[in-house]
Amino acid sequence: MRFRHSLIAASLTAALCAAGCTSPSAPAATSPGTTTASATAASASPTPSASPTPSATPTSTPKPTPTTPPKDTRKGKQLSKPYAVNGIIVVSKKHRITAAYGPRHPTGPYHLEAEAAAALTRMTAAAKADGVRIRVRSGYRNWTVQNASYQRALRNYPQNISFYAPAGASEHQTGLAVDLWDGVTWSLPMARTATGKWLFKHAHSYGFVLRYPDGKQKVTGYHYEPWHYRYIGKKDAMKFGNNKLTLEEYLGLA
Ligand code: DAL
Ligand code: ZN
Repeated sequence: MRFRHSLIAASLTAALCAAGCTSPSAPAATSPGTTTASATAASASPTPSASPTPSATPTSTPKPTPTTPPKDTRKGKQLSKPYAVNGIIVVSKKHRITAAYGPRHPTGPYHLEAEAAAALTRMTAAAKADGVRIRVRSGYRNWTVQNASYQRALRNYPQNISFYAPAGASEHQTGLAVDLWDGVTWSLPMARTATGKWLFKHAHSYGFVLRYPDGKQKVTGYHYEPWHYRYIGKKDAMKFGNNKLTLEEYLGLA
């Protein structure tokens, strides 16, 4: 797998810049700066009970609740609202949105949904405290930008098209997804940078999950992307600690 990755990494660096470098306010050629990082990271470790009483009922970690998810019956204008399971938005090739949808509370230079932007700020600060730099390569992308990127990839990099979402099938349109790196090493080798490793270990503590894990293309519809993190909130993200679970599996969609 690693060998195959290294073979395609070189061509991807050029190809993915077409999709990943684009943000609504920054032209493709510019390098977006880091997010402001002033908040202190929240503690991820639970506090054990000091002296349990004999009658105390043992508590257990709640399990994910992928009961039967509702059918995605949206059509026509209803597609301007995303499909969601247990309050978690799902945008994929199977659950698309129209051009009308965007973040409800776009915040900061990357126009992320406010809660995701705040979590990213906390995560960036925590990484910095560990001596690790997190930069945002791409945040919110609207339908038109996504469409242009996909069409360009189809023309120029058809062999890498599994890294590109068609317009309406990209999480970037929700303002809940970010492409992260260290500002130096992009594409698949990013996974082996300090930033890639730090995110792999800690992102879930800030509510972000590695959305397209290695070897799960049949489930997610997209190739492994070590840079693409999706905000779902800490409570749910903590169940993704091993970075192998997909959102589709977690929500009972696969
Ligand atoms: N690269 C991911 C699949 C996107 O374009 O949304
Ligand atoms: Zn992405």
